Amino acid sequence: MTVHFIGAGPGAADLLTLRGRDLIAASPVCLYAGSLVPEGVLAHCPPGARIVNTAPMSLDDIVSEIAAAHAQGKDVARLHSGDLSIWSAMGEQLRRLRVLGIPFTVTPGVPSFSAAAAALEAELTLPRLAQSVVLTRVPGRSSAMPEGENLAAFAATGAVLAIHLSIHMLDKVVAELTAHYGADCPVAIVWRASWPDQRIVRATLATLDAAVGAELERTAIILVGKTLGSEEFSESCLYAADYDRRYRPIGPAPRFPEAS
Ligand SMILES: C[S@@+](CC[C@H](N)C(=O)[O-])C[C@H]1O[C@@H](n2cnc3c(N)ncnc32)[C@H](O)[C@@H]1O
Repeated sequence: MTVHFIGAGPGAADLLTLRGRDLIAASPVCLYAGSLVPEGVLAHCPPGARIVNTAPMSLDDIVSEIAAAHAQGKDVARLHSGDLSIWSAMGEQLRRLRVLGIPFTVTPGVPSFSAAAAALEAELTLPRLAQSVVLTRVPGRSSAMPEGENLAAFAATGAVLAIHLSIHMLDKVVAELTAHYGADCPVAIVWRASWPDQRIVRATLATLDAAVGAELERTAIILVGKTLGSEEFSESCLYAADYDRRYRPIGPAPRFPEAS
């Protein structure tokens, strides 16, 4: 018996890895984080599977459910939205399973920031404009930020910020970032990236408030940085005709002669 932790993707039922789909199809029990995991993903469960929405459950209840499946020798597909490496609450579950000696696997998923960037048709890292993306959030009711992790500190680097779990604090986010990025810095908000009712707002830090209007529902990513919507960037060396590289050595004395 194994518990398969599976990143269920940002919303669209087909933004799921083949491995994730096959593990769901082979597991007689499925526990899913109901607030964000799409129903369409559950369609991969086998007929007669026990399907449990863990949104209203405590960690103890979830672990009891897993332990019961373990006692019956039944594999469990454990689904969390997006990818498991960020804000999935997987860490605390794995710690409990290690103590109980229950085996598990981890299968990554498409994170929501990637789905948001795809919706914007954006490469977040562009030559000379930004080469780093910070995945972050503002403090929440139940989650204080560790010392040193704050928007101002990240903004001071000029990196692109992908701000999760923070749409309800949009005014605070804009106020803090304007001091670092300038009022004309591009911003985009993607609500429910990849869902049928996906919505996008593009603006600058100065115009965002008016562009968003009253809509401040949950489940949105705020992306801030110079690369959003900019056409003013250099081309990369990767495909430059005169750049000598292992896969395309050039000139009489290429830097990587063994590849030629
Ligand atoms: C608990 S976190 C889960 C993050 C998830 N593990 C991931 O890889 O994206 C929930 C937050 O992720 C973001 N999020 C998740 N799905 C999203 C989507 N489809 N569109 C936009 N933002 C999304 C929102 O900021 C939301 O408040």
